[in-house]
Amino acid sequence: MSVPETILSAMAEVEVPRHVAIIMDGNGRWAASRGLPRVEGHRRGVEALRRTVRAAGDIGVGILTIFSFSAENWSRPASEIRDLMGLLRRFIRNDLADLHKNGIRVRVIGERDTLDPDVRNLLEEAEELTRDNERLTLVVAFNYGGRQEIAAAAKRLAEEVASGRLEPAAVNADTFAGFLAAPDLPDPDLIIRTSGEQRLSNFLLWQAAYSELVFISTYWPDFDRAALESAIAEYSKRDRRFGGLSARTGA
Ligand code: IPE
Ligand code: IPE
Ligand code: MG
Repeated sequence: MSVPETILSAMAEVEVPRHVAIIMDGNGRWAASRGLPRVEGHRRGVEALRRTVRAAGDIGVGILTIFSFSAENWSRPASEIRDLMGLLRRFIRNDLADLHKNGIRVRVIGERDTLDPDVRNLLEEAEELTRDNERLTLVVAFNYGGRQEIAAAAKRLAEEVASGRLEPAAVNADTFAGFLAAPDLPDPDLIIRTSGEQRLSNFLLWQAAYSELVFISTYWPDFDRAALESAIAEYSKRDRRFGGLSARTGA
């Protein structure tokens, strides 16, 4: 797919992050501010997701990770959980062919064993169908929690040590990271959270160590290509030092 002229010109001066992660927040407040039921906000949130995936691919982002459902979101009313699961099912059923056609590889992080088998099967089908696609990797964080991911990694690492396959002395940050959910992917360069909240809410705790954080007040259903471009423009103004000195000024 060719990149539309307008995007090329708008993005010409900025450094496009390789990996963008988004905490898609504010669906409920978007709906409430219009006197609509929360589910309407979630529905419009799916449309915002479609726009964003398209825009990320056009801009040249390599990996887009989206926080779709947190391990803590089970504490919401059963009816809202049903709505969210229904929307995920519909999203995969309706959009999978299109994602595949557009060269998007779908990957899923999060605890799968406790999901309904039909949801689990759909997630696996999406991964399987798109596994060889290379244009954009869409990582869906579903039933995901950063602490849970780290604890699961520790458990698997402990099993390796207990079985004698791994020496305790060989454990360091790099070997540990190899046990996380998607160890082959680079950490997010940019994490965007919509809706004005300024917290991670248990998202990618390990991987966010040196991510640039951009918080915007827009509710997720209103997020669009312009909002993504503006967050990327903000990112490209940041001076990432990783504990060292500025690559730009040397100071
Ligand atoms: C984000 O919107 C979607 C999910 C967390 C599943 P919210 O549902 O959290 O919307 P607010 O934060 O209540 O407005
Ligand atoms: C984070 O949003 C989870 C997702 C966007 C899926 P929440 O709305 O659940 O976070 P809190 O509860 O406001 O921290
Ligand atoms: Mg929220």
